[in-house]
Amino acid sequence: MKKITVPEILKMKAEGKKIPVLTAYDFQAARILDEAGIPLLLVGDSCGMVEAGYETTLPVTLEEMIYHCRAVARGRASALVVADMPFASYQVSRKEAKRNACRLVKEGGAEAVKLEGGVRMAETIRAIAEMDVPVMGHIGLTPQSVHRMGGYKVQGRSKTEAEALLEDARSIEEAGAFSIVLEGIPAPLAKEITASLSIPAIGIGAGPDCDGQVLVVNDMLGLIVGNKTPRFVKKYADLNRIISLAVGEFIKDVEEGKFPSKEHTY
Ligand code: KIV
Repeated sequence: MKKITVPEILKMKAEGKKIPVLTAYDFQAARILDEAGIPLLLVGDSCGMVEAGYETTLPVTLEEMIYHCRAVARGRASALVVADMPFASYQVSRKEAKRNACRLVKEGGAEAVKLEGGVRMAETIRAIAEMDVPVMGHIGLTPQSVHRMGGYKVQGRSKTEAEALLEDARSIEEAGAFSIVLEGIPAPLAKEITASLSIPAIGIGAGPDCDGQVLVVNDMLGLIVGNKTPRFVKKYADLNRIISLAVGEFIKDVEEGKFPSKEHTY
């Protein structure tokens, strides 16, 4: 399969091809998703919630992101690997942001980084992009801003908020980002933002008119325990159930002395 690069992703928007994106956090999943044909794998800091069990993405460290990214980069052959910059790895100073973006590329094997925030982050995006590290922006419901937002709430419902998001998107494109995630915003606004940009806009909970769609892989595979699945998630499989059934069978086999049988014994 052909290697997907940043110019390939830009070309997809230019040619009107939709861009499917999934998160990945480990080697096995990266290999499966890559072989299935996903062009862009996002090593999201959502790993903190769906893999480590944190309540928010805020505790995730740069070291943890590098670890996950390295595993994903080893597992993929074709897909572009984009790594999230975790909270506090880019907000404190531009110098730190540049250094930490470099670490994700150098130590994690990322081919691009993603960071949250609009106008206020534009100069940070510019500084990283000027080092030739491609940047993906992320606006709307930005999970690292959970405390400011007072929860995971849809953003951009009022006229003032919608205008601010349009300005955020413009400033991110102008700063040199190669793409942008639009999360948790009303579909008509996402459509307007997408049409106003020449870079691809990847939606999550932002309606059908974005250039691509991203989902957290655990959500779409039904591999989430206890959490209520958000309305924007389509569950393509119920792995919780499949795993529970398999584990139940294993327990029964062991208890009844049916495993290991002759074929599983040296
Ligand atoms: O961390 C993440 O997985 C993300 C996506 C949901 C866009 O930022």
